[in-house]
Amino acid sequence: MTDTYSTRLGFAKFLAQEAGFLAQKLYREREADFVSTKGLQDFVTQADRAVEAHIRSLLLRHFPSDAMLGEEDGLMGDSSSIWVVDPIDGTANYMRGLPDWAISIAFCWEGEPEVGVIFAPERNEMCWAVKGQGAFCNDQPIQVSACAAPDQALLLLGRSARGSLSAYLDLVRSVIDSEMEYRRNGSAAVSLMDVAQGRAEGYYEAHLNPWDALAGVIIIREAGGIVRCAKGAEMLTAGSPVLALARNLDGKVLQTLAVE
Ligand code: IPD
Ligand code: CA
Repeated sequence: MTDTYSTRLGFAKFLAQEAGFLAQKLYREREADFVSTKGLQDFVTQADRAVEAHIRSLLLRHFPSDAMLGEEDGLMGDSSSIWVVDPIDGTANYMRGLPDWAISIAFCWEGEPEVGVIFAPERNEMCWAVKGQGAFCNDQPIQVSACAAPDQALLLLGRSARGSLSAYLDLVRSVIDSEMEYRRNGSAAVSLMDVAQGRAEGYYEAHLNPWDALAGVIIIREAGGIVRCAKGAEMLTAGSPVLALARNLDGKVLQTLAVE
C-alpha cells in the first residue's frame, strides 16, 4: 500500500464511523420536518445533508487539493484525486428505522476507485479495500461466494425510478426462471457489502450513481468478485448499470441478466 493510500484509507474509515454516529444521533433527535421529498419515492432527510456537509468539511480540511463529489451537493474542486461520497445510502430505510443503510466513501484516482469504505452502523459492519490489498470487514479478510450453481444462488436486484419497471419485472422473471433466488434491500452499498462477504452471489441494478457504487466496486474486486460498470469520467458524471458477481457464476447469470 502506498503511503498516500494508507493515509487516505485510515481517514476514510474514521470519516465513515463519525458520519454513521452522527446519522444515528440525528435520527434519535429528529423532529416533524426531518424528511423532505425529492421526487416519487425519493427522499432526503436533514441528516443526509448534515452528514455530507460534515464529511466535506473534514475531507477538504485534511486533503485541500482533492476534489469531492457527494450525492447532495455535487462536485467541489477539480483534481485527479476525487472522493465520491454517499452520506446515507438507503435513505428510505434510514428514515423509517430499518437497519440497511450505510455511509459509502470511495477515493478515486483519475476516475477509478483505489480505496473504498462502506460502514453500516446498525449492523456494526465496516467493509473496506485498497486496490491490490484485498478486502476486509471489521478488519477480517473477506471473499465473495464460491458458489457455482445458479440453482443455489441468491441475487440482489436493486431498482429505482431511474430504471424501467417493465425491464425490472422481466429481470425478476428471468432470474426465477433460471432457478435463482432474489432479494431487494433498498441500499446498493449494503447489497455490495453482502456480495463481497459471500452472503449473496450477485447484485445488479440498471442504473447506479457513482456515489452509490464506487466504494462497493473496489471492495467487490478486492474480495475476488467480478464487476461490470462504466469507467472513469463516464461513471463519475452519469453513473451506469452495475453488475457485481461471485467469480464462479458468470456464464449463466450473465445470460440471464442479458448483459453478456
Ligand atoms: C438508492 C439506494 C437504492 C438503489 C437506488 C439508490 P439512496 O440510494 O441505494 O437501493 O436502488 O438506485 O439511488 O437514495 O438511498 O442514497
Ligand atoms: Ca445512494
